[in-house]
Amino acid sequence: MVSGRSVARMSLKFFASSLVLFGLTATAASSNDNLELLKTRYKRPISIPFPETAPYSPQVAALGKMLFFDPRLSGMQHMCCASCHNPSFGFEVPVPGATGSANKPLPRKAPTGLNAAWLPTLFWDGRAPDLETQAQGPITADVVPAAPIPHRQDAVAFTSVASA
Ligand code: HEC
Repeated sequence: MVSGRSVARMSLKFFASSLVLFGLTATAASSNDNLELLKTRYKRPISIPFPETAPYSPQVAALGKMLFFDPRLSGMQHMCCASCHNPSFGFEVPVPGATGSANKPLPRKAPTGLNAAWLPTLFWDGRAPDLETQAQGPITADVVPAAPIPHRQDAVAFTSVASA
């Protein structure tokens, strides 16, 4: 026989579990709202901001893609942008520090090249104000000794593939 006390206990349990369920649903709904809000904040813009001095052209984009994978850019002709910004690993390398020319270990990790077009500043310390300035880094650094940049548009081209 079910006593009055155990019925009361059961209804209390039921009440308590409905409260928990209600609470969970309410939390899920508000965290979904927060997630949606967060997503809108990080939504990728629909267009790439090209500087007036270096507007987009399919030819420059094709050149950029070619140069990104071209080891002739490096002094020893054995490295290219993709050596450290490897497309198979999200345009980065999954190790704490990149490896430079002649296997020299670099103190910093190669960040992804994805979405670089929209970054307000570049490099870990933000020392490059734009992609054109940034692109001169790997071309002129000792660890990736290379030919000088042929001209300004090529510098943008180097990075166009990373931000495509
Ligand atoms: C030897 C490895 C190596 C090579 C080769 C290399 N990079 Fe990098 N790259 C790095 C490292 C390390 C950093 C971060 C350096 C820093 O913050 O001081 C970086 C930073 C960058 C950034 C800035 C990303 C950000 O979030 O700030 C871009 C863009 C980039 N590289 C593009 C290129 C391009 C284009 C090339 C080819 C011309 C290239 N890299 C070649 C290692 C490399």
